[in-house]
Amino acid sequence: MSGDQPKDDRDNARKLAEGLAHLSGFGNEHSSEAVPGALPHGRNSPQRAPLGLYAEQLSGTAFTEPRAHNRRSWLYRVRPSAAHPSFARTDNGAIRTAPFTETVPDPNRLRWNPLPEPAPGTDWLAGLWTLGGNGDATQRTGMAVHLYHANASMDRVFSDADGELLIVPEHGGLLLRTELGLLHAEPGHVALIPRGVRFRVELLDDSARGYVCENYGAVFQLPDLGPIGANGLANARDFKAPVAAYEDVEGPVEVVNKFCGNLWAATYDHSPLDVVAWHGNHVPYVYDLRRFNVIGSLSYDHPDPSIFTVLTSPSDTPGLAGVDFVVFAPRWLVGEDTFRPPYFHRNVMSEYMGLIEGAYDAKAEGFVPGGGSLHNMMSAHGPDRETFERASAAELKPQKIDDGLAFMFETRWPVTATEQAASADHLQRRYDDVWQGLERHFRP
Ligand SMILES: [Fe+2]
Repeated sequence: MSGDQPKDDRDNARKLAEGLAHLSGFGNEHSSEAVPGALPHGRNSPQRAPLGLYAEQLSGTAFTEPRAHNRRSWLYRVRPSAAHPSFARTDNGAIRTAPFTETVPDPNRLRWNPLPEPAPGTDWLAGLWTLGGNGDATQRTGMAVHLYHANASMDRVFSDADGELLIVPEHGGLLLRTELGLLHAEPGHVALIPRGVRFRVELLDDSARGYVCENYGAVFQLPDLGPIGANGLANARDFKAPVAAYEDVEGPVEVVNKFCGNLWAATYDHSPLDVVAWHGNHVPYVYDLRRFNVIGSLSYDHPDPSIFTVLTSPSDTPGLAGVDFVVFAPRWLVGEDTFRPPYFHRNVMSEYMGLIEGAYDAKAEGFVPGGGSLHNMMSAHGPDRETFERASAAELKPQKIDDGLAFMFETRWPVTATEQAASADHLQRRYDDVWQGLERHFRP
């Protein structure tokens, strides 16, 4: 292999990624075949599936969940998934899973710098580093916050039985080769890999860095729009699912399965990304956050940040999410007699925030792309001193916020940090200082 091989691989992967076809729409009953005639018609499991393929159902929800929430896909593949050797435990690396008990839940406001550089040859899975989370993966409740920093493409294949993975790239493009086809995700996009779907991450640049919300709970769905009407926020048509694409590869392939918190590996004698055709709604997808239709105030105040919800994982209590994915996208601020940055508040929900690019309007410095902050249940937070002084004195002309893209994983349970996050060198140990010097202005 020449020294240029990885770069050639990346150029080829980028060419492939940029030319991908896709299917559009959130939650649709899609269907796709990579070879004409591979998809059976009129039934899911004919006596003999077309072209000598095996038919297999992949269920993302219980068989009996209401139709509106039910997710499953039918896969037509070269070999059935059942044809595999035993899995054996393998190193979990820096991946941790709920319940999170390595540290006690911390009421302090916490903030981290980006992950340090990974060792050479670190693929996406090896570069996955868990910050914390809540719930219990075996109970299918809660979520985990992970970050990743990788500099090599995966040769192996991964799947997560514990939850769906919402990948938020912050640096470096990704080509996601999934069982259902290929997806292209760049910084500013999010990619979702459903529970149990096998995939491989290939890098389109020298390195890749970003965030992952692992959602153990109910699958992410679009929020209800209520009085907003039939359109707005993330529009369903902007979600892109892959078209069928398969690998017909004989030879050893390492397959890693995350199951109840541990990684298990097996060496297959073929690639399990061998689905030639499929139909269903348990599908991976990519969404460009710049397509988000931001709704806001045209009079005074600004709405609570729930108005920026892209996806929500509902719980049994109406309106109370296991986790919401929220984006702070470019938008106009026009409120009259209004303190325009995010207000001071204490929230029963717990907030992990990350930054994809630029700056965030509530913090003058220290909250940087690739870093993140954690404001747990009832912790007091809001603008820093500099932002407060500036916004309190600003002339209230219409103002475009277009210099950053921040997001939040907002969850109903406190996020408990992992030991590695609580003791990390890149934990900012003086984060509290940003709220120092907020002067007394009271004049009775
Ligand atoms: Fe907040």
